[in-house]
Amino acid sequence: MEFKANWIRPAKDLGDVCPVFKKEWKIKKPLKKVELYLTALGVYEAEVNGKRVSGYVLAPGWTAYEMRLQVQRYDVTELVREENILTVIVGRGWMRSPMPGFVEAEYKKKRMEQPCGLWGELHLTYADGSKEVLASDETWEYGESAVRFSEIYDGEHYDATFDTTLWSHALRLDWQTDILMMQEGEEIREIERIGAKSVFETPAGERIVDFGQEITGYVEFCVDAKAGERIRILHGEVLDKNGNFYRDNYRDAKAEIQYICKEGGQTYHPKLTFFGFRYLKLEEFPKKARPEQFKAVVVCSNIKKTGHLSCSDPDVNQLFSNIFWGQKGNFLDIPTDCPQRDERLGWTGDAQVFVKTATYNYDVEKFFTKWLHDMAAHQRKDGGIGQVIPDLLDAGNPSAAWGDAAVICPWQIYQTYGKKQILEDQFDCMKKWVDYITGATTVPYLWAGGEHFGDWLGLDAPSGSYKGSSREEFIATAFYAYSTQLLVKAAKVLGKDAGEYEQLYQNIVETFRKTYPEYLTQTEHILAVHFRLAKDLQKTADDLAEMIKRDGSQIKTGFVGTPYILHVLSEYGHSDLAYTLFLRKEYPSWLFSVKQGATTIWEHWDGIMENGDFWSADMNSFNHYAYGSVADWVYEKAAGIRPLEEYPGFERVLIKPMADKRLNWLEASIDTRNGKIASKWICTPDGIRYEIETAVPAEVEIGDMKMEVAPGTYTFWG
Ligand code: BGC
Repeated sequence: MEFKANWIRPAKDLGDVCPVFKKEWKIKKPLKKVELYLTALGVYEAEVNGKRVSGYVLAPGWTAYEMRLQVQRYDVTELVREENILTVIVGRGWMRSPMPGFVEAEYKKKRMEQPCGLWGELHLTYADGSKEVLASDETWEYGESAVRFSEIYDGEHYDATFDTTLWSHALRLDWQTDILMMQEGEEIREIERIGAKSVFETPAGERIVDFGQEITGYVEFCVDAKAGERIRILHGEVLDKNGNFYRDNYRDAKAEIQYICKEGGQTYHPKLTFFGFRYLKLEEFPKKARPEQFKAVVVCSNIKKTGHLSCSDPDVNQLFSNIFWGQKGNFLDIPTDCPQRDERLGWTGDAQVFVKTATYNYDVEKFFTKWLHDMAAHQRKDGGIGQVIPDLLDAGNPSAAWGDAAVICPWQIYQTYGKKQILEDQFDCMKKWVDYITGATTVPYLWAGGEHFGDWLGLDAPSGSYKGSSREEFIATAFYAYSTQLLVKAAKVLGKDAGEYEQLYQNIVETFRKTYPEYLTQTEHILAVHFRLAKDLQKTADDLAEMIKRDGSQIKTGFVGTPYILHVLSEYGHSDLAYTLFLRKEYPSWLFSVKQGATTIWEHWDGIMENGDFWSADMNSFNHYAYGSVADWVYEKAAGIRPLEEYPGFERVLIKPMADKRLNWLEASIDTRNGKIASKWICTPDGIRYEIETAVPAEVEIGDMKMEVAPGTYTFWG
């Protein structure tokens, strides 16, 4: 697509107020089609003749803006009349936000000082076949909008009494246009509206709205008010142990809505920001508030649900629900760590940990493709991958298990969806990451040195530390080996010569074995088995099982060990123990947070402790999907839907369920690119009944029984 338009900006600085840009035009002859191409420095909402041009919210999304900025195309033919007005409000969005909360003031200032800009083209195709392009230039106007303030973390202020009456000509903005590209990711949309469950008063006398579910998005409220009356709303995820409103864990994110009412009935929701919340505190609100006045609008990338999990235990079903909600809440254009506090960043480690589950739960091929392209764009010259993508923490050192997202994520996308293109696109980035480690280590064939997050939040962390006790260089080397191995596999898929990396892989494994003759923690055992580094895999898995039992049949793992722990146990004959950990309801466990009332996955196993205290105020998110990665064990091991590496995209599968009588039944299904694959087991007085549905040829293994089946539905007894 050849674009012609110039960037434009307001002629003067409007401070906190979001500008609205305007283009008026008249139609002189019969039209066939009108297309609008639009993007902005910030986020925008566009209307033609007072009607929104699309359901896309927070456009143009979040990319590596200096290199890649998405342009949206809207067909607005239906909205066009003889005399037309296009208006576009532009907010700070991600680009001009001072995010994140914990960086230097100087850096924040620099981000905030970037100019507000709009870029647009109206393409008119007339009935007679002729064409005309109205491109943004100085004929477009701007004024102050009713959005008086808008920012990703701090929220939005809106004055419904404000009318834009003063319009001036916009100026040209000198900004790159070679960064423009057509929309590549999924659109961000309002996907659901949830009514408030209750409005109540806390012991501290606060007025609270409860939606009964933590979501990411914004509230839509309707109110009957006098002009000038004010509404102030704060957001919170949980109540404290006394039942009062709590928001210390949002840290510096104000997450506040201010709204000046116009006269009469009105409905409003923020346009250019979002929040992670379950509760609202009505600091100011006219009259008595009723639940019917509030809806939580769920905003998420438009990903299609493909996975289904359920079983006979209501707590486990709540866990499943929390996992899906955790994904919806953190798949808002990029995979974020959390949606509420002054962070909301594309932490690479979190995405790596969760990517397999993510691909089974939803179709995220397009979503990850865009993010991985941004990763490649932001890869540092030396091949290092930042801690977050888009990489706005330039100074952050690449960490093992975080940077490895560069290899693990594209490989997983290829495995689940079966298209080589993602490997093609990312191969260079994958290779440069492995080369980065080779160049960065102080000891060949290990990853020695560097700064790492270790087994982040591992429960075996020494007091006062966020990092579990597993040795950082052990983890780093294990991931070095794993990434190198995946790189070799990717090279083979693409028909590239991988000899050099095969040798490198052998050398890493050998050196790893010599350097680490024994494993000290749960996570060290897990990585040694899962990445097939231990010489004796079975013995290492048995040792892990013993260690877990000695630890009181409890997980001690953090971000790095948790995603694989149950896989390793089930794979090596300890399925029983895997279920013990999975079904455990006391702390620490997946179900502890469920027992504590969680509706999404928590950052900490004990975000709210047994006694009702919080883990901390400074780092305690109640919507952090990482530990939700347990779902891929449920799909693959509990229900037994296992992809076969040589048949990417589920062209052929192994179905090997592992039932456990502590549940009466369990079922899972995935709508793969090759059709639906479903597996259910039911414990009956006559034995265990297995119901299998497969759209592809499958190898079925139930106990000692092994057979090959054609696509179809089957029942087996075991
Ligand atoms: C984020 C994590 C992230 C970590 C890295 C945190 O603040 O929320 O999920 O991976 O930092 O250390």
